[in-house]
Amino acid sequence: MRGIFWLLLIALLFCGAVVSAETFGVKKTAPKPDQYGNVVMNNLSDQNHIAPVVFNHWLHRALYTCRLCHVDLGFAMKAGGTGVKEADNVNGLYCGACHDNKLAFGPEKKNAFGNTEKYCDRCHSLGKKVTFVKDFFAFTKGFPPARFGNKVDWLLAEDKGLIKLTDQLPGITIPRKALKIPLDSELKGKEAGMPDIIFSHQKHAVWNGCELCHPDIFGVTKKSSVYSMQEIFEGRYCGACHGKVAFVNLDCQLCHTKAVF
Ligand code: HEC
Ligand code: HEC
Ligand code: HEC
Ligand code: HEC
Ligand code: HEC
Ligand code: HEC
Repeated sequence: MRGIFWLLLIALLFCGAVVSAETFGVKKTAPKPDQYGNVVMNNLSDQNHIAPVVFNHWLHRALYTCRLCHVDLGFAMKAGGTGVKEADNVNGLYCGACHDNKLAFGPEKKNAFGNTEKYCDRCHSLGKKVTFVKDFFAFTKGFPPARFGNKVDWLLAEDKGLIKLTDQLPGITIPRKALKIPLDSELKGKEAGMPDIIFSHQKHAVWNGCELCHPDIFGVTKKSSVYSMQEIFEGRYCGACHGKVAFVNLDCQLCHTKAVF
């Protein structure tokens, strides 16, 4: 079965128009680099006659660890899963933990003339023409490139110190003693000719801490989670992040790294 991997790899490398197919079967269209990882939040917006919210991961992940938002602030790892309400934000929860006019812009602010300026559109931006302060292309200029997704090698960007991740918010994060980080694991490619995968706890812990994966996505004993590539493509296990926010699953060789020969 060695053929399958190499055929796929060759097809991907030489096919200029790789814009689809993140699975063995179903086709998906790949989003543009500035849209990869964007999440539309629309549990309540439409029904309250305001534009749905577009949350961009590219900017926020360049500033904060995944862990801070998805563990300490309690954001779900599923679009719409959190059930944020505007009142929560105003009370300093969820987006409001930062968008409070101190760390980042809030819903509204009094200007020097005592008038209220509203910033609703910056979050409630779906289908609107909004001028953002941070432009994706200007912001990511000079970052090490990657082939898919945001087309940014985030790991290297962090490694090189081009981005500095905040992992704690005073008053919200409860400081804890760090757990010992397990050594790299070698996961089997299972099919002949399929390169094995080196899973680095060290590299993942920088962004994800431990609680983003354990125990919800992976059990904590060796071999407690058994899964296939198809399940990853479907958004489970590694696919809970890869293909949504972390690098896409089309980039086979970023995971299947170990030499076959
Ligand atoms: C920092 C981002 C942010 C800003 C700024 C913001 N909102 Fe929201 N707002 C949200 C999010 C997230 C939701 C939940 C969206 C959903 O699931 O539909 C929401 C929901 C709402 C809802 C739905 C009903 C409800 O009670 O939750 C209304 C109405 C709303 N916002 C009004 C406003 C208005 C008016 C402003 C400006 C004065 C504003 N928002 C500014 C993020 C923001
Ligand atoms: C500033 C906060 C913040 C940071 C940092 C952050 N996220 Fe998120 N993430 C969110 C929000 C908000 C949502 C949408 C939740 C909702 O709709 O209820 C989300 C949703 C997701 C989803 C679900 C997407 C989908 O399409 O269903 C995944 C997967 C995810 N995040 C992974 C990550 C990873 C991996 C990182 C780090 C590289 C990260 N997030 C960093 C706030 C954040
Ligand atoms: C952990 C802190 C944090 C959380 C949580 C957070 N943000 Fe942000 N956000 C920031 C910072 C910092 C900036 C950049 C500073 C600025 O532009 O004021 C930013 C920028 C943005 C921008 C870009 C605005 C522009 O003009 O470039 C949008 C849109 C945005 N956030 C929406 C959201 C929404 C929606 C949520 C909740 C679902 C959220 N943020 C949660 C810290 C956060
Ligand atoms: C990105 C997801 C992810 C993160 C983050 C993560 N783990 Fe794991 N962990 C895994 C996977 C996948 C396995 C299974 C590896 C295997 O089969 O050898 C595993 C296995 C383990 C095991 C059992 C096997 C072993 O190698 O000892 C322990 C203990 C463990 N993790 C602890 C931690 C701790 C402590 C942290 C935080 C420093 C952490 N993990 C962060 C995905 C993760
Ligand atoms: C909780 C989210 C999450 C899960 C689950 C996850 N990853 Fe990652 N992974 C990331 C993030 C974030 C990065 C940083 C790079 C990026 O965002 O593209 C990363 C980077 C990597 C890298 C590059 C690191 C290196 O060694 O150079 C590999 C390889 C990788 N992941 C493999 C895996 C495998 C295999 C699994 C499943 C066993 C997995 N990941 C599960 C979030 C996750
Ligand atoms: C995010 C990391 C990641 C990426 C990217 C990735 N794989 Fe995998 N792959 C895995 C893991 C983890 C396993 C399961 C290993 C185990 O359980 O021993 C796996 C298993 C497989 C298997 C074994 C049989 C099966 O179906 O489970 C094949 C074949 C495979 N992958 C092909 C591919 C191809 C082709 C691509 C690119 C289109 C790809 N993989 C991209 C992580 C990845």
